[in-house]
Amino acid sequence: MQVGIDMGSASGGNPATLDIEELLATRLLVQGNSGSGKSHLLRRLLEQSAPWVQQVIIDPEGDFVTLSDKFGHVVVDGERTEAELAGIANRIRQHRVSCVLTLEGLEIEQQMRAAAAFLNGMFDADREFWYPVLVVVDEAQMFAPSVAGEVSDDARKMSLGAMTNLMCRGRKRGLAGVIATQRLAKLAKNVAAEASNFLMGRTFLDIDMARAADLLGMDRRQAEMFRDLKRGNFVALGPALSRRPLPIQIGNVETSARSSSPKLMPLPDSPQDVEDLIFTPDPEEFQRPIVRRAAPAPRPTTDILAELSRSAPAATAPQPTEGRASQPEMSAEDREERVSAVLSEILDDPGSGFRTDSVLYQEFLVRLRMRRVPGSPMSLPEFRRRVAVSRSGVDPETAGTEAWATALSLSSGVTDDLQGVFLMLAKAAVCGEPCPSDARIARAYGTHSARRARRLLGYFEEQGTVVVHTDFSGKRIVAFPDINCQTAPGDANAPDVDGVQSAAE
Ligand SMILES: Nc1ncnc2c1ncn2[C@@H]1O[C@H](COP(=O)(O)OP(=O)(O)OP(=O)(O)O)[C@@H](O)[C@H]1O
Ligand SMILES: [Mg+2]
Repeated sequence: MQVGIDMGSASGGNPATLDIEELLATRLLVQGNSGSGKSHLLRRLLEQSAPWVQQVIIDPEGDFVTLSDKFGHVVVDGERTEAELAGIANRIRQHRVSCVLTLEGLEIEQQMRAAAAFLNGMFDADREFWYPVLVVVDEAQMFAPSVAGEVSDDARKMSLGAMTNLMCRGRKRGLAGVIATQRLAKLAKNVAAEASNFLMGRTFLDIDMARAADLLGMDRRQAEMFRDLKRGNFVALGPALSRRPLPIQIGNVETSARSSSPKLMPLPDSPQDVEDLIFTPDPEEFQRPIVRRAAPAPRPTTDILAELSRSAPAATAPQPTEGRASQPEMSAEDREERVSAVLSEILDDPGSGFRTDSVLYQEFLVRLRMRRVPGSPMSLPEFRRRVAVSRSGVDPETAGTEAWATALSLSSGVTDDLQGVFLMLAKAAVCGEPCPSDARIARAYGTHSARRARRLLGYFEEQGTVVVHTDFSGKRIVAFPDINCQTAPGDANAPDVDGVQSAAE
């Protein structure tokens, strides 16, 4: 039986049809950046095909539960034991009921385990129940990540295994995977490679575009068209869609997503008694258990050093009431200005790049003392952070942007000693400057070794914070997917701008 469902309109005003039976045999991959309209597309596909085929949706955000009212999907809450989920999945196949597995509110690791248990339950159904099912997985990169993330190895293996089964071995058992992802580069290659149909939406990063071009068998310049696609516009290719890349626009949907794009709303008139409203506690607040802080960890030597170097140690500080000369008063701004001046003195020394942070920190403490800067000096981690920000060379205007704020919060995820390198790269990306050379990266890390610089980039990439790739001429680009920006292409072998050539290794 051939059933063509209407996905919207193709160029030239023709309807864009998707052959459901062919789809069952050849699977579908949808990719597009956040907001490109993937979930809307999946909803259109589900609504149009609901009368024809059983459907199971693995739904991380709980967006698709609204299908239940109109189309009768059973909503399965993922907060269950793995055995329960596998049992439900099995019965879903026996009774051929469409369902939405909602994983909303679960921790990422629990989401992975729940999805895996459910998919495995469907996969393991008895042969007599191998009826065709469309298995739609939104945000598939979460369940089949290309690299290890912060979840346990065990959860990742379980979920990746279930997704691989779905895409590679599901067809014989009637399971047809339809997966959507924001980032092709973050999706395990073997899972992506099993789809023969593609719907490609707006794609920002070169690395994703390159992966898309490879999968579609297009040349990379042709794939540039994905960059300019509007929301709801996709390029369709594959046996169930079109034999040539075909731009299509996804049509309307009948049910609504529970979450939608944020819209600006006028703020309410602020009431007169706003402070009362905010500071009057809710009686329930007092019934909640008081969270006690853990006992303080042993103090590191650097803290003790910092205390020793205080210009006026607390225990011996002269008391003004005793009529002796007190510490000169200094406003917070004056103090900050003097601290910054001391910091710049240290960092302006060209040799400072090759000294470790703790050596610099000790020098900093001594200088603060010599300049009689009152108050407790900053801690070593704070000092490192200030050094990293200062070395990144960020200008005040960029420093005020949201992108820079994101860069700073990302940098807190890398160890103290790598923050300088990380922020320097982030600054180049935020400002669209060429990617720093190996020699420059090496200096930011306090080394002369170009090889170590390359290893650092590899490490950031493994952590999933950056994506390193090259342009056609072999120049290096470092992209920060979470900030939505990337450096301009830069020559990895160029000498350091200050003429410090890294040691060739
Ligand atoms: N073809 C379309 N017609 C009308 N509205 C659309 C269309 N596609 C998407 N939208 C609207 O655009 C917004 C973003 O779409 P959607 O949620 O599908 O994006 P997404 O690609 O799934 O993003 P994310 O990866 O962040 O989940 C939604 O409010 C959706 O209703
Ligand atoms: Mg979505």
